[in-house]
Amino acid sequence: MARRKKIYEGKAKILYEGPEPGTIVQYFKDDATAFNAEKKDVIDGKGVLNNRLSEFFMTGLTQIGIPNHFIRRLNMREQLVRNCEIVPLEVIVRNYAAGSMSKRLGIAEGTQLPRPIVEYCYKDDSLGDPLVTEEHIAAFGWASQQDMEDILSLALRVNDFMSGVMLAVGIRLVDFKIEIGRVYEGDYQRLIVADEISPDSCRLWDIETGQKLDKDVFRRDLGSLTDAYSEVARRLGVLPGNNVTKPTLIN
Ligand code: TMP
Repeated sequence: MARRKKIYEGKAKILYEGPEPGTIVQYFKDDATAFNAEKKDVIDGKGVLNNRLSEFFMTGLTQIGIPNHFIRRLNMREQLVRNCEIVPLEVIVRNYAAGSMSKRLGIAEGTQLPRPIVEYCYKDDSLGDPLVTEEHIAAFGWASQQDMEDILSLALRVNDFMSGVMLAVGIRLVDFKIEIGRVYEGDYQRLIVADEISPDSCRLWDIETGQKLDKDVFRRDLGSLTDAYSEVARRLGVLPGNNVTKPTLIN
């Protein structure tokens, strides 16, 4: 196979030049990191699961008219996506207090928030992705006022979709992070959901037991990450059978 040009390598994914202009191949690695890569491991099968789960969620977004970068899955670890300029923000939506919000504000993990709360972090690993306000975003020109309105609307729509999909399989969507891409269409620019949506970037708790089914299993040493992600995939019908730990994939 012809050698592809690597465009970027991040902590969990590699981006290669795509086969057609305006496309990118997104390769999901098995690497897991937490606390800005202070904690690292290779988790056999994680990339395969996240490739399938991100495909599942992005396809669902497309079906309800939420624009996103996903074009098609190529193989077990790769998907073809639209090339876009990533807005340098991590957009976090929270339905229940957890993680850094619980620490910052002293709210017990699991407390239901009065309404979904959207937070923005500036995407810069060397700074540890600090929380920023819309004032910083506007003043430093990371996104315009119109962009911020579009980003808020996308984030809340993704939240409604993801909350519903998860609720249907007995999982609470506690919070999640998305990234936003800018694409140009003639004279216009449009914002779309980019990067990935997977248990790496969400907090997912079993509604009955409270069991964590997301990357906190790795962050907090709570057991097998692939078991947790496989359980999410199995409930969503992305993987067949019961208690599949090794990703045996359906087409
Ligand atoms: P936090 O509580 O640590 O700020 O995380 C909020 C949500 O964002 C949680 O679902 C995990 C996700 N997240 C990422 O996807 N990437 C990150 O680098 C961090 C810190 C959080």
